[in-house]
Amino acid sequence: MIPNGTLTLNADPAGITQAADLLRQGLLVAFPTETVYGLGGDARNGEAVASIYAAKGRPSFNPLIAHVASIEAAQRFVTWPDQAEALAAAFWPGPLTLVLPLRPDHGISSLVTAGLNTLAVRVPAHPAARALLSEFDGPVAAPSANPSGQISPTTAAHALSGLNGRIAAVLDDGPCGVGLESTIVGLAGEPALLRPGGVALEQIDAVLDTQLHHHQPGDALNAPGQLQSHYAPDAPVRLNASTAQGDEVLLGFGPVDCDLNLSAKGDLAEAAANLFAALHSLNDTGRPIAVTQIPEHGLGAAINDRLRRAAAPRNG
Ligand code: TXA
Ligand code: MG
Repeated sequence: MIPNGTLTLNADPAGITQAADLLRQGLLVAFPTETVYGLGGDARNGEAVASIYAAKGRPSFNPLIAHVASIEAAQRFVTWPDQAEALAAAFWPGPLTLVLPLRPDHGISSLVTAGLNTLAVRVPAHPAARALLSEFDGPVAAPSANPSGQISPTTAAHALSGLNGRIAAVLDDGPCGVGLESTIVGLAGEPALLRPGGVALEQIDAVLDTQLHHHQPGDALNAPGQLQSHYAPDAPVRLNASTAQGDEVLLGFGPVDCDLNLSAKGDLAEAAANLFAALHSLNDTGRPIAVTQIPEHGLGAAINDRLRRAAAPRNG
């Protein structure tokens, strides 16, 4: 426990300085990114990284993403093939994570990579995240700021509801704009989509001039942490519903009659931004959740990935 509870810091220069100081002391700070709030700790400090796993209750075989301020900062830690250059030029700063072979003398704690010889790196676009990374001037390991397996946080209040008293501070800068975690592309071997996310696969394919394997229901787990049940509310979730049954609350998309609509005008980016907040608020009703069908193209692939995991049988 943190003696005086978790501090809430404003994302102003004083708050950023204080957050960076806490990271330097090996403490944990939740901070906004354009995707979701991250739970940050110094990626070179094994004790700090161990406390990230402890605060989330996360299995230690599930590696973390190192957040850095720039392409040059990423290149200090990982090898840099042409495909990394092309994708980083197109999407960084932004909601894309690249998994690349570690360089010698990288200095990253082996707890970040869960002992793998690759590292997931990302340059976030959110101004507060960028300010924090440049003030801290080092790699920040950050999973999403929620207890392992639960709904991801897109506000400081979501982060606090799961982690209050377990972390030193949360830097509050309002809701996240993208609302879904980053797309993860593996570039350690043949390019592969490891997790659909905030950059649509079609956009990645266009830059790489290829067709990466599309993530489909029932695929084998392809990123170590891609557990079948994840993003899970307390209540059961039923997909592809047309109407609510029994006590269900209906989460809709497009012009449908429902309790809560992700995007009445059928805009997938708007739906992505609203998804986790909608799940948090429906979860608070204590009622089972039904969701209408959402198209599988563009950001719909990542939205459906999260919903399938929210609906999957729970681990234990
Ligand atoms: O948008 C995001 O990516 C957010 C924000 C905070 O940046 N972070 C996030 O982290 O979603 P997390 O820990 O919830 O998900 C990271 C994913 C996990 O599925 C993990 O298994 C995968 O990245 N991962 C990390 N390192 C990896 C590696 N070396 N090889 C393959 N997958 C890796
Ligand atoms: Mg997560």
